[in-house]
Amino acid sequence: MKLLVVGITLGLALSSLFASSEISFPADYKTYKSASTPLTHIGALPDCNADVSSLPKIYQETVATYCAVKPGGPGKVDVTVKPSAMATYKKRNGKFKDGAVLVLWLKDIKALFVTEYKGGKPMYGVFSEDGKDIAGADGSGLSPNDCRTCHTGYGAFCVNGQCGTQQ
Ligand code: HEC
Repeated sequence: MKLLVVGITLGLALSSLFASSEISFPADYKTYKSASTPLTHIGALPDCNADVSSLPKIYQETVATYCAVKPGGPGKVDVTVKPSAMATYKKRNGKFKDGAVLVLWLKDIKALFVTEYKGGKPMYGVFSEDGKDIAGADGSGLSPNDCRTCHTGYGAFCVNGQCGTQQ
């Protein structure tokens, strides 16, 4: 009995340590089209010394969350959208058909932050460019729950999981 309890506790601890993506890798991501957004306008996520005080709070928190990922900051970014979902993306109403996929592509790190819609709800994943699931523990900035916290935590800034605005 005692062993069972220990086993369950350990299992829970481990599953929260190693979160995994909620969606599968979008193998066709290279066919997605670049969108023009405030972030792609800046072009890169800076390091932790950058003065981002003039940016909206959600951008300040995004920089704070990821600036230490590597020396010099995460670097070059692109936002890409599945071609069939581009019209919806531009409307910025978050009403994507299931499977519509948005990618925040961290080009220097070769990682993809991916949003996919299931039953009209945004679900999140983190992958390497070659399709490995590299989602991290809650609180690392790389777990689906961390994505959800920011993508829903700034009132009306993000609309049903979609944060960027067409520029
Ligand atoms: C601290 C806030 C924050 C966190 C954490 C965060 N994001 Fe975002 N995300 C943003 C903002 C702000 C944008 C809009 C940037 C732009 O294009 O100007 C964005 C954009 C995106 C986009 C491009 C489409 C869109 O919604 O505009 C995707 C895809 C995305 N994020 C996925 C993720 C995933 C997956 C995670 C978790 C690993 C994550 N994000 C974590 C703030 C955050």
